[in-house]
Amino acid sequence: MCRDALIVVFCLATLLLLPSLSGAEPKIRDEPIRPLPLSSAENPAKVDLGWQLFQDKRLSASGQVSCSSCHRLDYYGMEREAFSIGANEQFEGIKTPTVINSQFNFRQFWDGRVVTLAEQVEATIENQLELNNNWQQLLFRLRQDGVLRQQFEQIYEQGLDKNSVVDAIVTFERTLISSNSAFDRWLRGEESALSKKALQGYALFKSYGCISCHQGQNVGGNMFARMGAMGNYFIDRNDDMKRSDLGLFTLTDHEDDKHVFKVPSLRFAALNRYFFHDASVDSLQEAIQIMGKYQLGRKLPEKDIVLIEAFLKSLLGDLPPAFSKPTVVSQ
Ligand code: HEC
Ligand code: HEC
Repeated sequence: MCRDALIVVFCLATLLLLPSLSGAEPKIRDEPIRPLPLSSAENPAKVDLGWQLFQDKRLSASGQVSCSSCHRLDYYGMEREAFSIGANEQFEGIKTPTVINSQFNFRQFWDGRVVTLAEQVEATIENQLELNNNWQQLLFRLRQDGVLRQQFEQIYEQGLDKNSVVDAIVTFERTLISSNSAFDRWLRGEESALSKKALQGYALFKSYGCISCHQGQNVGGNMFARMGAMGNYFIDRNDDMKRSDLGLFTLTDHEDDKHVFKVPSLRFAALNRYFFHDASVDSLQEAIQIMGKYQLGRKLPEKDIVLIEAFLKSLLGDLPPAFSKPTVVSQ
C-alpha cells in the first residue's frame, strides 16, 4: 500500500519534470492558442533570392503582375482593396489573404485545395487569374537573365529550374512569421504583456466558443468549418452566389461541403480592411458580430465585441524583416 503510494508520487513527479528535462519551453501557458516561433533558420542567400522572385513581374505572362502586386510588402502581405487585380481581370469574389504565417495553415487557399506552400506556388504561376504563365515560358525568360542565372547556380546544384524557383520562394515564405505579439508574450509568461481588456476579450473568445474553430498557432488555419453553421449567411448576404462561395464543395461535390472553408487565421484580422472570403464586410466589429450570429447563434453585446476586438489586436506581432526593406522596382 505504502509502496504503491510512493510509486504514484514518483510517477507524478517524473511527469511534471519531464517537459523541463526534455528542453521544451516550460513556461508556455497551457492554452488552446500556441505562440509562433521566434525565428526561422533558413539559408539567407535562398531567402534573398525568394524575396527577389516574390517581387519579380516576369513571373506573370503579361510582365505586369508579381506575387507582391497582390500580397503587398507595404501592406502586411495582403491586399489593400477588396479584391486583387490579376493577370487578366479583377478577382471576382475572393479576398487575398496575407502570406505572413501562411506556413502554419494546414492547407492553403480558402477552400484548402493545396496542402504545401510549394504546391501553392506551382498552382499560382499557371493560374489564369493570378500569374497566367506556364513554367516552360517562365524558365526560358528567367534564364535569359545572366545575373539571376548565376545567383541560382551559386546556391542550387541544378541551377535555375522549376524546383529551385519554387524552393527559393517557399524558403522566403518560411521566414514570414509575425512573432512577439503581446498575446504570444503573455503565453510565454510575460504577465504584463496583455492589457486587461485583451485578457477579458480572450476569456470571452473562449467562453463564447470562437476558440472551437480559431485555435492553435495561427488562431485558425487548422480545420475546415461551414460559413453559416447556425444560419444561412449567403441568403442574408444579399448578393449573387458565386463559385468561390461554394468553398470545399468545388473540390468534393459533396452537398455537406457547400460553403465550407478553411477557418482563417486571425493573427492579422485587426489589420484587414475587408473581412471574409468574399470581402463582404469592412469593419472588424461587424465581422465579430456576424461570427456570433452565424457561427454561434448568439447576439453578442456591443461591450463584448469591443473586448474581443482588443484581444484580436493583441495578436498582431512584429512584421517580418522583408516587410521593412524597400520594394525592388521590378522590370
Ligand atoms: C492576382 C493576385 C495574386 C497574385 C499575383 C498572387 N496571389 Fe497568392 N493569393 C491570391 C488570392 C486571391 C488568394 C486566395 C485564393 C483562394 O483561396 O482561392 C491567394 C492565396 C495565396 C496563399 C494561401 C494563403 C492562405 O492563407 O490560404 C499563398 C501562400 C499565396 N497566395 C502566395 C502567393 C505567391 C508566393 C505568389 C507568387 C508566386 C502569389 N501568391 C501570387 C492572390 C494573388
Ligand atoms: C464554427 C466555426 C467558427 C466559429 C465558432 C467562429 N468562427 Fe470565425 N470564421 C470561421 C470561418 C469558416 C470563417 C471564414 C468565413 C468566410 O470567409 O466566409 C471565419 C472568419 C472569421 C473572421 C474574418 C477573418 C478574415 O480574414 O476575413 C473573423 C474576424 C472571425 N472569424 C472571428 C471570429 C470570432 C470573434 C468568433 C467568436 C465570436 C468566431 N470567429 C467564431 C469559423 C468560425
